[in-house]
Amino acid sequence: MAGRIPSSFIDDLLNRVDIVDLVNQRIPLKKAGKDYQACCPFHDEKTPSFTVSRDKQFYHCFGCSAHGSAIGFLMDYDNMSFVEAIEELAHQAGVEVPREGGQNTGPDCRPLYAVLEQAAHYYTTQLRSHPQAHRAITYLKQRGLSGEIAKDFNIGYAPPGWDNLIKQQGKDTQALKQLREGGMTLESENRCYDRFRDRIMFPIRDHRGRTVGFGGRILGDEKPKYLNSPETPIFHKSRELYGLHEAHKALQKITRLLVVEGYMDVVALAQFGIRYAVATLGTATTPDHLERIFRTTPEVIFCFDGDRAGRDAGWKALNTALPLIREGREARFLFLPDGEDPDTLVRKEGKSAFEQRIQNATPLSQFLFDKLSEQVDMSSLDGRARLNELAKPLIAKLPHGTFKEMMDEHLNKLVGREARYVTNQPTTTNRAQKPGARQNSLQPMTPVRLAITLLLKQPELAQMPGLPTNWETLDKPGIGLLAELLHTIRENPSLASNKGALFERWRGRKEGQYLSRLANTELPTYDCSSEFKDALMHLQKQLGEQSQDQLLEQYRQGTITEAQYKERLRQLYPGK
Ligand code: UTP
Ligand code: MN
Repeated sequence: MAGRIPSSFIDDLLNRVDIVDLVNQRIPLKKAGKDYQACCPFHDEKTPSFTVSRDKQFYHCFGCSAHGSAIGFLMDYDNMSFVEAIEELAHQAGVEVPREGGQNTGPDCRPLYAVLEQAAHYYTTQLRSHPQAHRAITYLKQRGLSGEIAKDFNIGYAPPGWDNLIKQQGKDTQALKQLREGGMTLESENRCYDRFRDRIMFPIRDHRGRTVGFGGRILGDEKPKYLNSPETPIFHKSRELYGLHEAHKALQKITRLLVVEGYMDVVALAQFGIRYAVATLGTATTPDHLERIFRTTPEVIFCFDGDRAGRDAGWKALNTALPLIREGREARFLFLPDGEDPDTLVRKEGKSAFEQRIQNATPLSQFLFDKLSEQVDMSSLDGRARLNELAKPLIAKLPHGTFKEMMDEHLNKLVGREARYVTNQPTTTNRAQKPGARQNSLQPMTPVRLAITLLLKQPELAQMPGLPTNWETLDKPGIGLLAELLHTIRENPSLASNKGALFERWRGRKEGQYLSRLANTELPTYDCSSEFKDALMHLQKQLGEQSQDQLLEQYRQGTITEAQYKERLRQLYPGK
């Protein structure tokens, strides 16, 4: 496993690259004063409110509050993952990405990729040349597969026999070891033999097109019908999607992805011109799958059998998808008639009828409310209150934003005013909020919040001399975060001039979202440094009061004497 990327490396990297150049390569920027501007790529607008600061190495949109570092920009604009974005920037800067715990990138996987590539080549050759290949070809033909599509998907044939691949690729102990590590062989009673025998072979390619594993289908009805590669250092079922690489190859731009269950479904759909189908590999859709999907396209349609098991699988996928559905992303659900799968159906009714089904797929919101409504009696007040209870925790999984607000509103409409108050759960009615003004109206500006907000606006405040220090043990929400923020900037002075790098320190943590929200809070601009100092003074005073109360309590309960009480009180207020 590759270790963590050290945060000092990320700081350095963000100091080496220039966010202005990076953004400018993608959207032309105009200079405006100290900063650069363009129309925001993350929302529709006519006049530019998207600003990139070279000083702060940070972008911010005053219209939609999108903001972040060079890493964040690559993630949102180029749909990269965090690690991919770092690798891209490191590549541009000509440096290697170090990993914590010694080795640079974990064990060297290159030999494994080579082994699987060779195996894929071997299997496709066997489909053309093995004496038994006619059986495989007959099977594929009988299933309606064209030679052309078999070629597009590199479909091959693992011939019958225990050691074809071993004879071919396992010439010495080193090669045998790699075959085993790549999941191509099995061992029993000290004998080593081929995992895949007399099967149709579907190579599974990762996002870079490298073969990382195989699915193998038996030619007849024996069990198991499909055999998949095991987890290996280069193959993780929970991350890979069969057919994604082929979709990228076939389409210039992937505008939507259809998630189906089987290899044959992907291949059959492709043969009929539906080139945007992918399959999970015998597992339920995972958050990793969905991240990958949404990095490719904002629109996903999950396709399931219409039976009970299919509906349950759909509900599971809905639950996995909820936390990832933010503005602009869409998930829909397609349930097929009983006894059909995409392979059989597309062959029966053809491309346009199948695409019509996709067109009519059920939106996530409808699936959610329909499914819950089935479980309650919507004609009674109690039933509607129950619906409210069932839906709330699901809606709570959605990220904050317009879609969530719409779902809340829809729920309120469904359950009606009376039902909302039958339960004693507090219902937060999300009034439509302007982006950018988020939270402002909802949360009072406490000294802690004010101090954090000021620090985020001007990180250099952390270096001011003579700041009050005696407040960090105060028992108030947010104090820990404020202290952490202050110390992080002080210990890494480069962060004061690189806001992007500063925000990266909190990526993935709950507090990170909180910081983002505060960073977007509008403050009436007074004198920031004196405001900041005042806020900390206020906290110091509160700590004094808190300690005084505690001392008094201790004295009352007799845990300290009067003399001790007076002495400690004097220590609290040395001046007096
Ligand atoms: P299905 O049983 O629906 O197979 O399994 P299918 O795709 O319709 O296959 P055909 O049409 O009979 O060839 C769906 C998926 O579940 C996994 C495979 O990924 C398969 O494509 N599976 C199924 C296994 O991993 N092992 C099995 O034994 C069966
Ligand atoms: Mn099938």
